[in-house]
Amino acid sequence: MGSLRFPLQRTARSGRVRVACYDVDRCLSRALESPLEPLNPSQDDHPHVPGPSLWPVGFAIGIVVLLVGIIISWWVAGLGALVALVFAFLWVRDLTTGTGLAEAPAVEPESAATAAAAARADGHEDESYATEDRYPRSTFLELSTIGVGAVIGGIVTLPVLGFMIGPAFLKQGVKDTDIGPLNDYPEGKFVVATFRVQPSQGEVSARSAFVRNNGQLNGQPSFTIISNHCAHLGCPVQPNGPLDVKGTKQFGDVRLVPTVSIAGFGCPCHGGQYDTEGNRTAGPPVRALDRYSFSIKNGRLFVGAPFSVSHVDGTGANAQIHKWTYAFPGEHVDGLESWLYPIQPPH
Ligand code: FES
Repeated sequence: MGSLRFPLQRTARSGRVRVACYDVDRCLSRALESPLEPLNPSQDDHPHVPGPSLWPVGFAIGIVVLLVGIIISWWVAGLGALVALVFAFLWVRDLTTGTGLAEAPAVEPESAATAAAAARADGHEDESYATEDRYPRSTFLELSTIGVGAVIGGIVTLPVLGFMIGPAFLKQGVKDTDIGPLNDYPEGKFVVATFRVQPSQGEVSARSAFVRNNGQLNGQPSFTIISNHCAHLGCPVQPNGPLDVKGTKQFGDVRLVPTVSIAGFGCPCHGGQYDTEGNRTAGPPVRALDRYSFSIKNGRLFVGAPFSVSHVDGTGANAQIHKWTYAFPGEHVDGLESWLYPIQPPH
């Protein structure tokens, strides 16, 4: 009768070697004669059932903190990533500890010799019958299920996350917009400039700003460029004074309308009022009017990125501007209120 193969196996806990038998007659006889450690079903066939663990909860909390941090602060995002990594490590370690996956026990020389003798006694001298650590089927199924679930979850989630939050981190940038030669801006007067920040997008990208030539500051031209978006809810603010409509200039998408004399700016929606530096003087706006950065190239004035302003001290070229990251209308940029409403949606 042809003999069946019965590979050598080493137990995970003891590291001792035994022979897995599939030939009943041989196995029964050897079980009576062999000095090998008898099989103990209660010890080795016990299914691997992971106990309750808090690591997944900690991992989930870390992910939540990471996502919130992406919106409000990179420090918070880093902390969340660290928490998630630590708990992920503990979770994986918990799953692998005690299953023979974490580290392979050393083979006792005596056991190895005994196993080899058993193999020779059964006519199997091929060393290929000796196998590596025992790998419980329940553990294999558990880990492979988690692994496949993680891969599928990543495939489904990552593209969605990328489309959702990716644009906020792309350098979409604000291109400088040419709003005409410096000579079109008489010193000490406001000019209402209308321009398009993305000409390819048409009228939807049109912006208006109040531009004042402040003269020279330390040998360099100085300009005040105030946005017309109300700091309350974003209505278009108007100059409080007459416009010199006859002096209007138009080139390309840019239109320049000089003012005669203005005493500040007013919002038609809810009566918000601002002085000529854009400081709020009355009404519901929560801060000063936003401003634009500027640059001068080849004698022409270029409008850059907008920024928010809490308030301005002084006037004209000597004004001290309290500058902040660009914020939506209605958002406080300083003081207690800015801490009460810290989360700003990406824009
Ligand atoms: S939107 Fe300007 S005061 Fe309300």
